Amino acid sequence: MSSVAVVTGAAGDIGRAIALRLADSHDVVVLVDIDVVAAEKAARDLGPAERFVALGCDVTSEAELAALATRIAGFGLVHTLVNNAGAARAVSLHDTDGDIWRKDNALNLEAPFLCFRAFSEALKQSQGSVINISSVNGMAVFGHPAYSAAKAGLIHLTKLIAVEYGKFGIRANAVAPGTVRTQAWEVRAAANPEVFEEAKRWYALRRIATAEDIANAVFFLSGDQAAAITGVCLPVDCGLTAGQAELARTFSQSEHY
Ligand SMILES: NC(=O)c1ccc[n+]([C@@H]2O[C@H](COP(=O)([O-])OP(=O)(O)OC[C@H]3O[C@@H](n4cnc5c(N)ncnc54)[C@H](O)[C@@H]3O)[C@@H](O)[C@H]2O)c1
Repeated sequence: MSSVAVVTGAAGDIGRAIALRLADSHDVVVLVDIDVVAAEKAARDLGPAERFVALGCDVTSEAELAALATRIAGFGLVHTLVNNAGAARAVSLHDTDGDIWRKDNALNLEAPFLCFRAFSEALKQSQGSVINISSVNGMAVFGHPAYSAAKAGLIHLTKLIAVEYGKFGIRANAVAPGTVRTQAWEVRAAANPEVFEEAKRWYALRRIATAEDIANAVFFLSGDQAAAITGVCLPVDCGLTAGQAELARTFSQSEHY
């Protein structure tokens, strides 16, 4: 039976890069997105129709997810689920109202839970793995509170799956990207064309990650090389969460930082 990888939010830049990378280890990659036209274009751009399949689905809808799982079963057995769909609505707690809080949590935390439920039986059969795309925002405060709280919850959901479903051979891991230049940044980049240059000084490597950097980490975690790794959150953040050189310079009064 064909091995299938499912990537949600795959019309976006990170999702598309993950879909391309997972085609190295899966027979079929399903690009799931609420924007089916964009997902279809992404699938066409990536390769042949028998290897890259686009399906429309709002991952916050349990009914749509149930229909999605039934359709995907027709392509083969799901070995890898990547919960990548995500977005943030408000930058500060001051700007966050109840509706924004609920919507950000629905997309960034509840949807990965519902997706996992929709594919858990298939993953038991394949002894497959789930990779949840969290964020450095789930590890420390960098703005976007409702989104960040949901991404922190997603790291915990990853551990919950790892611990309870490990007995079925299912692994669950999270990837926490730092800044990646994608369409999600368009508004901020338009407001300040220097936003990425300004951000780089906070990163140990003095650069931001690419979508391919994230895809490589997902590929590793989904494969046999990571067979003993479950319940972890792997930052792919060019050292952002390791520490701040500028602060270390102030604290230590050493020019070596
Ligand atoms: N870009 C960054 O700097 C960055 C940093 C850390 C984490 N992330 C995370 O990486 C993931 C991908 O981010 P990106 O920058 O590629 O975003 P993006 O906006 O480029 O892509 C997100 C995709 O998700 C889809 N989507 C939104 N709501 C959906 C829904 N209800 N159902 C199905 N699909 C839906 C969108 O249509 C879009 O194609 C997200 O989870 C994001 O939080 C991104």
